[in-house]
Amino acid sequence: MENNWDIKSLTEDFINHYGGSKDDISVFFAPGRVNLIGEHTDYNGGFVFPCSLHFGTYLLLSKAHYSKMTLKSKNIAMTAQVCPAKTITPVGNTWINYPLGVVSEFQRKGLTVSGYNMLFAGNIPNSAGLSSSASIEMVTAFALNSLENFGLDNLELVKLCQRAENDFVGMKCGIMDQFAVAMGKKDHAIFLNCDTLAYELVPVVLSDYSLVITNTNKQRRLADSKYNERRAECEKAVSDLQPYKNIRNLSEMNPYEFSQAAYKIEDSTVRKRAMHVIMENHRVLKAVDVLKKNDLIKFGELMYASHRSLRVGYEVSCFELDTLVDEASKTDGVAGSRMTGAGFGGCTVSLVKTGRVENFVSEVGKNYKLKTGLDASFFTVQVGDGVRKIERNK
Ligand code: GLA
Repeated sequence: MENNWDIKSLTEDFINHYGGSKDDISVFFAPGRVNLIGEHTDYNGGFVFPCSLHFGTYLLLSKAHYSKMTLKSKNIAMTAQVCPAKTITPVGNTWINYPLGVVSEFQRKGLTVSGYNMLFAGNIPNSAGLSSSASIEMVTAFALNSLENFGLDNLELVKLCQRAENDFVGMKCGIMDQFAVAMGKKDHAIFLNCDTLAYELVPVVLSDYSLVITNTNKQRRLADSKYNERRAECEKAVSDLQPYKNIRNLSEMNPYEFSQAAYKIEDSTVRKRAMHVIMENHRVLKAVDVLKKNDLIKFGELMYASHRSLRVGYEVSCFELDTLVDEASKTDGVAGSRMTGAGFGGCTVSLVKTGRVENFVSEVGKNYKLKTGLDASFFTVQVGDGVRKIERNK
C-alpha cells in the first residue's frame, strides 16, 4: 500500500482547498482488486475469480455553490474544472478522464450531475494491475449516484463505469475490474460468469497462508495496444471456429470441443490464444472447487499453471513477472504464484505460508533485484468489502 490516508487529515485538506465545514463533506471509498485466477477470460465471456482489497480510493466531496465540478487528487498535482451540464471531452491522457468518463456516461443516460468539489486520495499503486482506474470510476459513480439520488443499482453502475473506460478513456477492458470493485465482500472472492453476470461469493479461508502481492515496479508499456490486439485475436478465433460450432465467444467451447476443432484455426498464434482462454476457464472452475475444499496446495498449482499459460500461450507476461514467479516457486512455503491483471508488468499474487512471508520478501526481493536491477514491493493483503459510503463517526 502506498499511502496511509486517514479521513480526519483528508477532511482538513479538503477544507483548506475548498472551504466549508466538515458537515458538508461526504466520504466514499472503492477498493482495488486482485484477480486470483481467470485472466483475459472476461472479454471472452468466461469465468474470473477476483476479490476486492483492503486498500483503494477515497473520495471526499461537497456540493458546490455554482454548477462547476472541481476535481483534485492527493496523488497527482493536477486539478480540473468542468461544467457537468455541458458536453465533456477527455483531458489528455490523465487520471481525470476516469471520473469525467463517469459524469459523461451519466449524461448519456439523461442524468445531469450538479456542481461538486471533489478530492480523491488513493493508495493503489498506479499501472500495477490492481484496478486503480476502476476504483476511481466506481467511487465517483457510487458517490454521485447516491448524492444525486439517481437510483441506479450497483450492477448498473458497474456497466456504466465499464462504458466510461471503453468509450471515454478508450481502453477496451472487460467487466471484471468494475464488477470486483463494486461487488466485493470481505473475506470472499467473486466467482463471476462474465457472459451472464451470474456470480457467487466464495469464502476465502486461507488457514495458515497469506495472500502476498508483489509489484514488479516495471513501467508498463504497450499494455493497452497489446490488450486490444489480444481481443482481436480472440475474435478471429471465434470466427475461425464457426464451421465447427456456432459460438458467440470462446468460452462457449469446452476443452474437449476445442481439441476437436482447434485445427480450424489456421494461424498458430491465434490458436495459442484461444487455447489459453479455454483452458483458463477450466482452471477457474477447478480453482473454485478446490478453494471450497480448502485445498490450497491444489489452488496454488492452478495458479502456477495459469501463469505458464499466460506466459507461453497468451504472451502477456514479461521478464520481470516471470522472474518473480520463478523465484517464488523456488522459495519455501509458497503454494502458488502468478501474474494478475492485464500483464506486461504490474504485479504477481502469491499464496505464501504466513510464517514464511518475511523469508519470501527477503529471498524473492534479493534475487529479483539481482536479475532485473529493480526493487520489488510486497504487500500482504486482506480481502475487503466493495464500494461504500464511509460514515464519519464510525
Ligand atoms: C485488465 C482488464 C480486465 C481484464 C484483465 C485481464 O485488468 O481491465 O477487464 O481483461 O485485464 O484478465
